[in-house]
Amino acid sequence: MDYQAILNIIEKELESFEDEGKVADYIPELAFVPSDKFGMHLHCIDGGDYSFGNSDEKFSIQSISKVFSLALAKKHGSKIWKRVDVEPSGDPFNSLTQLEKEKGIPRNPFINAGALVIADILVSCLDNPKKDLLDFVRLIAQDDDIHYDEKVASSEKKHGYRNIALVNYMKALGNINNDVDDILDFYFYQCSISMSCHQLAKAFMIFANEGRIMGTEEKAIKSNSTKRINAIMQTCGFYDEAGEFSFRVGLPGKSGVGGGIVAIHPHQYAVAVWSPLLNEKGNSEKGMRALEELTTLTGLSIF
Ligand code: DON
Repeated sequence: MDYQAILNIIEKELESFEDEGKVADYIPELAFVPSDKFGMHLHCIDGGDYSFGNSDEKFSIQSISKVFSLALAKKHGSKIWKRVDVEPSGDPFNSLTQLEKEKGIPRNPFINAGALVIADILVSCLDNPKKDLLDFVRLIAQDDDIHYDEKVASSEKKHGYRNIALVNYMKALGNINNDVDDILDFYFYQCSISMSCHQLAKAFMIFANEGRIMGTEEKAIKSNSTKRINAIMQTCGFYDEAGEFSFRVGLPGKSGVGGGIVAIHPHQYAVAVWSPLLNEKGNSEKGMRALEELTTLTGLSIF
């Protein structure tokens, strides 16, 4: 498969794409990102790298980090599934409404409520949660040049009223053990991780390669965990647009309000795309389009 030729076609085709999306501005720091950024990187299981555009430029990975925190919680053998469910929510990522009826158990680990419970689990089981998460991401990406963005973290901390409400509400319902400020601090930092498409594609190879780190073949997580996490990416990775992403792209994936999307084709590749303009569901419109083109032009998806 000539992936570079396919990526070149996607870049060309989307040159004239009329994007009606908007940059996320509820985290004020994200509104400063130029909206015309566009990059894509595909990392193959045979080690091949293919890319175009701003694929080496770092951006805020936001909710993509929820896949890393879930993987780290699984690695530590934490008991997760009594406290977080694995059902699509059909609601926006920051919704509060299901929690009341469902006794403070979030529908899945990728909506904000679920990721806050995972953050609580990590704060309980790690000695130094922020350092340990960053070390884990650096290990699986095989790259130490990955950092938290303090400006983005403090910008979200100042305006994160919904997350503050979510964690307090779950605490009231008995599903949060630690101090809410410690959980929020960890969560805002995890969302602020800055990575390029290139780094994300490499890191996500553990999910395409049964938990193995590219290049070292060391197992970062068990193959059974990748099976579970990929299933949750497929069904819940795009919130109330998960069905649309499955329908159009046909790969497990995860988006973030920084405009990034990562998807994996098991035993084949991991691919990351970045375009900051978001549709009303909070997903990168052009990014989804690029991935749809990728699976159409290659004729390969998991379906
Ligand atoms: O908690 C938030 O609202 C953000 N830090 C992350 C949300 C996000 O990326 C949703 N993804 N599309």
